Amino acid sequence: MIRTVAFLCLFCAYAAMSEPNYSLEEPLLYDTFPSDFLWGTATASYQIEGGWNEDGKGLSIWDTFTADPTNGNIANGDNGQVACDSYHKYKEDVQLLHNMGVNSYRFSIAWSRILPRGTGEVNQKGIDYYNNVINELLLYNITPAVTIYHWDLPQALQDRGGWLNPEIAYWFEDYSRILFKEFGDRVKFWITLNEPWVVAIAGHTNGEMAPGLRGPGILEYKVVHNLIRSHAKAYRVYHNEFYQSQGGEVGITLNSDWFEPVNATDPDHVEASVTKLQFMIGWFAHPIFVNGKYPEVMRQKIDAKSAAQGFAESRLPQFTEEESLEIMNSSDFFGLNHYTSSLVYPTPKSDISPATISWFTDDDVNEYQDAKWYKAASSWLKVVPFGLRRLLKWIDETYQKPIYVTENGFSDFIGNLDDMQRIYYYKHYINQMLKAIKLDGANVKGYYAWSLLDNFEWAKGYTEKFGLHYVDFNDPARPRTPKESTKFITKLINDHGFLP
Ligand code: GAL
Repeated sequence: MIRTVAFLCLFCAYAAMSEPNYSLEEPLLYDTFPSDFLWGTATASYQIEGGWNEDGKGLSIWDTFTADPTNGNIANGDNGQVACDSYHKYKEDVQLLHNMGVNSYRFSIAWSRILPRGTGEVNQKGIDYYNNVINELLLYNITPAVTIYHWDLPQALQDRGGWLNPEIAYWFEDYSRILFKEFGDRVKFWITLNEPWVVAIAGHTNGEMAPGLRGPGILEYKVVHNLIRSHAKAYRVYHNEFYQSQGGEVGITLNSDWFEPVNATDPDHVEASVTKLQFMIGWFAHPIFVNGKYPEVMRQKIDAKSAAQGFAESRLPQFTEEESLEIMNSSDFFGLNHYTSSLVYPTPKSDISPATISWFTDDDVNEYQDAKWYKAASSWLKVVPFGLRRLLKWIDETYQKPIYVTENGFSDFIGNLDDMQRIYYYKHYINQMLKAIKLDGANVKGYYAWSLLDNFEWAKGYTEKFGLHYVDFNDPARPRTPKESTKFITKLINDHGFLP
């Protein structure tokens, strides 16, 4: 009997020790945000504009990827030809922003509206459209935050190799220069690239998004190399040619989950978490914010594995000295898109696919996660508010740059107006961001909710809805209706935070 009790106690002690620290409910922090905090919502050109072939716009890779409704690329064979029709309804969109009381709006520019062939001749009507959007925002004192590239590459450039062609760094440089020249008198906040990780993995590893290529372990590394080179060139153009007269900020937006160690007291689990973060964030952030080179852990693992696979050269390319210098310190801020978290622990089993670049995976613990963390409509989106606080702290300590949360949000399938789950999500994620600022001292300067509108959710078409406003896609007029979550965010902004 005594032996049994002793054994049970030992077992309990072990269980308590290994029980991870992921309680869902935490008391809210009642406090306010800094007075100069930017509050906004975010959208992207292909997801909302429509007007796919109007006024001289060229085709983008999303026009071609969605062109054949029977190819299975997009749920229900949908496309963004009309989307929310913001190409015609931008004034209404600005009214919605004004009603919400936001002081900023993040939107992207369609490269093929400005340069229908990707390079060369400028389409004045494209310039006019974005001038109208910017001027309308300024009329209501809403600061434009402009994304230069949110995934809709001109098809003409894809035909020349797209992100796989090293020349793209010069194409992107020229395109960015046009935007700075045309809009930089009024736009002071520029994001070069949105989520280059997704461009690489969804576009070139698993082919789930345009341009739909599948080259696991090879293509994503080449693509990222060129994305980083391109970003750095745009940054240098701004700082060499425009900063003096325009005085704005230019940065990059990276996406990442938080990777919670299954057992935070086990050093191997903690190492798994950090390795995952390096493979997802560090892949870009280490060259850009630290030293112009890929993270050491990626260099070691990929070099070793490439050699073992018999490659003459590492699958992870090297920057030249000159490139490293251009890339190092090429972002004025850290833009973060964050939605969800994963559990990680070390497992050699998962070292089979350079595609997912996961030496460590959470696949094996998915069931466990599902039990603990509830999901949004998007299968990948689990609601884990504390993950945002931990990630912000990690980014703040690792890169020491001002951080803007450039996307965060929740999806459902129905688009219901009484969207209680979305309110829960925003309330707890935003409160965790407040804790990161007030309790951890993280330098977070702004927050953009994804998204202003229900919109074209890439491969999921119109099935997954992230909007603060419902859009009726069956009505040619595309009427917008605020959801309850809009009221929640409006009040939060008005209160500057959480009042007791
Ligand atoms: C991000 C992307 C957005 C939006 C969102 C929700 O990765 O930048 O365009 O689709 O995810 O899935």
